[in-house]
Amino acid sequence: MQLLIIKNYKELSKAACIILTKELKKNPSSNIAFATGKTPKGLYKELIKANKKHLINFSKIKAFSLDEYYPIKKSDKQSYYYYLHSNLFSHINVNPSNIHLLNSEAKSPKKECKNYENLLKRNPINIMILGVGVNSHIAFNEPGSNLNSKTRLIKLSRRTIKSNFKNKKNHPAKALTIGIKNILAAKKVLLLASGKEKEKAINNLIKNKPNKKFPVTFLKKHKNLTLILDKEAAKLL
Ligand code: GLP
Repeated sequence: MQLLIIKNYKELSKAACIILTKELKKNPSSNIAFATGKTPKGLYKELIKANKKHLINFSKIKAFSLDEYYPIKKSDKQSYYYYLHSNLFSHINVNPSNIHLLNSEAKSPKKECKNYENLLKRNPINIMILGVGVNSHIAFNEPGSNLNSKTRLIKLSRRTIKSNFKNKKNHPAKALTIGIKNILAAKKVLLLASGKEKEKAINNLIKNKPNKKFPVTFLKKHKNLTLILDKEAAKLL
């Protein structure tokens, strides 16, 4: 595990951008899985800037998602489809036909998960950008998720709903997520964590053996994991 503790969120975002730029130089046709949430927004801004300056080229990448609320309209501002397009894809030179996100409008979630699982088998992920939930979830692998879990429909935990939707009344109760097995299959994992609210999850990862209660701990089994933390997220270490 490579551990980078960076002074603040802005610098963390820049550091992650430098790592991705290097990886894409090595392999311009990388398959990349993109996280959502507050944490990677700074990184995505940096990637957009770097792309505009021609320092990074996305024309050959294939883009994948980690998770998505279900069911939800793609046009709903809460959907991860909307998030990834508005925060990143619409501003970079990714080929739209190379964007493969979990489909929040699929009629059958079971079929959608099976298709996505097959898609990931045909397109192994080179770089996975991950965040972590306050309850130590990764993607939407909530506490209780198995090491061998695959892409599936899950019920969101109360803690996740509280953290992601604050006091909003109309929110989805379920989500599609890739499994722990899919995450560990990625060639390189970059986990970003920022702020005090993540200090416990990061402490769990560093100090516990891999276990279902804190799914983030399964990342310890990964051979090429880089943790990029700001000082606040690293406070308990
Ligand atoms: C969300 C997403 C995760 C994300 C995590 C952290 O619920 N499902 O993919 O990494 O929780 O989100 P945030 O960065 O907003 O704290």
